[in-house]
Amino acid sequence: MKSMVVCSSRTGNTLKVAQAVYEVLPLPRALYPVDDAPDPDACDFIALGFWVDKGTADEKARRYLEKLKGKPIFLFGTLGAYPGSEHGKKCMENVKALAADNQILGTFLCQGRVDPEMIKWMEENLQDDPHHGMTPERRARLREAERHPNADDLAAAGNRLKETLNKMKKKRQGSHAQND
Ligand SMILES: Cc1cc2nc3c(=O)[nH]c(=O)nc-3n(C[C@H](O)[C@H](O)[C@H](O)COP(=O)(O)O)c2cc1C
Repeated sequence: MKSMVVCSSRTGNTLKVAQAVYEVLPLPRALYPVDDAPDPDACDFIALGFWVDKGTADEKARRYLEKLKGKPIFLFGTLGAYPGSEHGKKCMENVKALAADNQILGTFLCQGRVDPEMIKWMEENLQDDPHHGMTPERRARLREAERHPNADDLAAAGNRLKETLNKMKKKRQGSHAQND
């Protein structure tokens, strides 16, 4: 089985997770930045990494997702919000909907440091915005995001992929046994 990680990362957070995911993949394996990624048909299993942009996968990851059809895939991403929050869950649901033509075998999401330029812009422009204004809670969340992805996140991403691969193996063994 040939596997690859395809990763879209603007400031490096998702790339760190991509490297942890890559380490767990069986050989032969490859890791590509999304700009250099080959056609998906070259591989049997694809782990696609995205960063969350306005509640869904960033544009480059979305464009690569459009090329994915009927593949066993693992989706992983980073975001500023807490992954278990309503926003975090909604983001992953949005990405899963974009990948619905595939077999989504597993997913992983963790926080990632938000670009300080973006935070400055939010401070300057969203003061009076009722949904995106800078509240103490938002500032605390952004401070927490600064510490991610950390070693625990990377270990958790690797473990999630291991579980996903085991699930895939069992499924394949089951279907072979049925055909015997
Ligand atoms: C333009 C822009 C939009 C973003 N939109 C969201 C968002 O909707 N929700 C969220 O939780 N984080 C959002 N973020 C935070 C990023 O998803 C987060 O910092 C991510 O870890 C960046 O990953 P990267 O370093 O791989 O580029 C946004 C960041 C930027 C720059």
